[in-house]
Formats: sequence, structure tokens, C-alpha cells
Amino acid sequence: MQKTKHIPVLLDEVLESLNVQPGETVVDATLGGGGHFEAMINSISQAKEKTVFIGVDRDKKAIERFKENSKTLSSLKTSKNIEIYLINSNFAELESILMNLKISKVNKILADLGTSQDQLEDEEKGSSIKGESNLDMRMDENSQVSAADLLNGLTEKELVKLFNELADMQGISRRFVKRIIQERAKKPILTTKDLKKLIYQAVPLSTSSRTKSLEARVFQALRIAVNQELYALTRFLPQAFDALSFKGRLAVISFHSGEDRIVKNFFREKVKAGKAREIDKLIEPKELEIAANSRSSSAKMRVLEKTSS
Ligand SMILES: C[S@@+](CC[C@H](N)C(=O)[O-])C[C@H]1O[C@@H](n2cnc3c(N)ncnc32)[C@H](O)[C@@H]1O
Repeated sequence: MQKTKHIPVLLDEVLESLNVQPGETVVDATLGGGGHFEAMINSISQAKEKTVFIGVDRDKKAIERFKENSKTLSSLKTSKNIEIYLINSNFAELESILMNLKISKVNKILADLGTSQDQLEDEEKGSSIKGESNLDMRMDENSQVSAADLLNGLTEKELVKLFNELADMQGISRRFVKRIIQERAKKPILTTKDLKKLIYQAVPLSTSSRTKSLEARVFQALRIAVNQELYALTRFLPQAFDALSFKGRLAVISFHSGEDRIVKNFFREKVKAGKAREIDKLIEPKELEIAANSRSSSAKMRVLEKTSS
């Protein structure tokens, strides 16, 4: 398998705010290309006490790619003090993942939400607006519903709701969904090219940056719906908070306003209840990072520290 092409976002900020120490137990709930995971491991390479790193991803390919290519992993084979577990699972199952590993408390947890560059470039998945491929978008190959299933199977009302809520398309979603309904009555919508054509026909401004970002938002909305990403996040946050030890930290990086809202509200609730404090309200990439990696431009990181046991 090819090496990862994913560039970890807010890397220095993650290392600084999680500040992993020897002897801790650390969960990276979204391993992806493993950039954050490796950097956290390397930040404590001289561990005298047993330090545990758990990398989770619902995409089997991400786990396999990391096992095959990680230099950190192969160089650690001889180190007795660092234990690494790689788990192919949904982070919404964090509690049972930890239970299976017989781990009751965790010091640091990272979730870097959304999709990796490797998934975007995987032509079988059709998650990217570039190129032409089947409208699949499933991160987990065992899940049943693809993007094409949603486009061809949801009712008009359900599709309007999906694009209003997840693609911020109020005002144009009805027109766009009407085109979908007309088109699928003739033949199923199966490829990324079909979908891009429909977006263009509903909002014919193909050269403007507005339509480009509209395409990106439509693709992102479908991917979020296919993978039930907001639901997974809602399930993950309380399990992650429960698993944290006193002074343990949870960092979440999001790329979508719906995700960030869920994280923000959850963190506020914990702070209001006197159970946690927020470390810096909102951390965003600096201009230099955005210039080097445009994908980072929409990243928002929030970090919570548990102040109760
Ligand atoms: C933005 S990438 C993470 C990149 C990673 N931090 C790095 O440095 O390479 C997001 C990853 O999270 C995974 N993912 C998304 N939702 C997930 C979920 N509910 N459970 C487990 N993994 C998930 C995706 O499959 C993807 O590989």
C-alpha cells in the first residue's frame, strides 16, 4: 500500500496542548495517516515508564497503511516501555474498545474529524470533487449505505433537509434537489461526474469560487450523512470524557460547522457543570500553515481538561 499523503493539521498545537508525558495512556481516535499519532509517540521517545498509545480508525485501509509504512512503529519494536494498539473500529465504540484492552482511564485523547487525504484520493470512494468515480463515500467498507443510495433513495423532503443542515444550502437546496429528483426518474445518479453536473445545472456558476465551494459542501454533506459522522461524534464525546483521568485532556479538530457546534456545546456543558475547563477557547491554523496546506483552512480545534475525577 502507498505511503500516506495526509498532512496532519495543527500539529504543533496538538503536541503543545495535549503535552503527552511518559507513563500516560493516549488515544488517537482518528489515526488516518498517523501523523499526529507518530508525532505524539516521538515526543516521548525516552519513556522510562510504560506508555500506551491506542490508534483507532474505522477505515481498515488506514490501519493497514500505517502498519505497513510507519517508521515509528518499526523502530519501536525493541522498546519495552511503549505499547501500541491499532484498532479498526468506530470511535463511537470507545468505551468497549477500552474495555477490551482492559484500560479504565486515559490521559489524553485526540479526535481529528472528517476524512484524510488518502480517502479523498481513493478512487473507489468518490469522496473528492476531483476526478470521476462511483458515489460511494463510505469510510467503513462494512457499512451498508453509500452516497449513491442516499441520492437515489431518500425522499425529496429528506434530501432538502440533508443539504440544508449539512451543506448550508438554504435557498438553493430545493432547486438542487428538484434536479436530483428529475434526473433519477430517468436513470440512477451513480458517479461524482453525474453529481457535479447536477450541481452545475441547479446553480450554473461553474467558474466562480462560490460554485466550487458549493460542490465541496455538497460532497462533504453527503459524506457526513453516509458515515453518520455527527451521530458518531455525539456518541463519542461523553465516552471520551468519562474515560479521561483527572487533569486528562481531550482535543477535537473539526472541519464542519455542525461538528464544531456539537463539540462547543458539549465542552460548555462540562465547564458549566464545574467538571472541566477549556484550554484556549478556539485554536485555528496560522496563515503559514494554511499557505502550506489549504485543507487546514477550515480546521478548528477545541481542548478540554477534566477537573473532576
Ligand atoms: C482527518 S483524518 C485523521 C488524520 C490523522 N490525524 C493524521 O495525522 O494523519 C480522519 C480519520 O478519521 C477516521 N474517522 C472518521 N470518523 C471516524 C469514526 N467515527 N471512528 C473512527 N475513525 C473515524 C477517518 O477514517 C480518517 O482516517
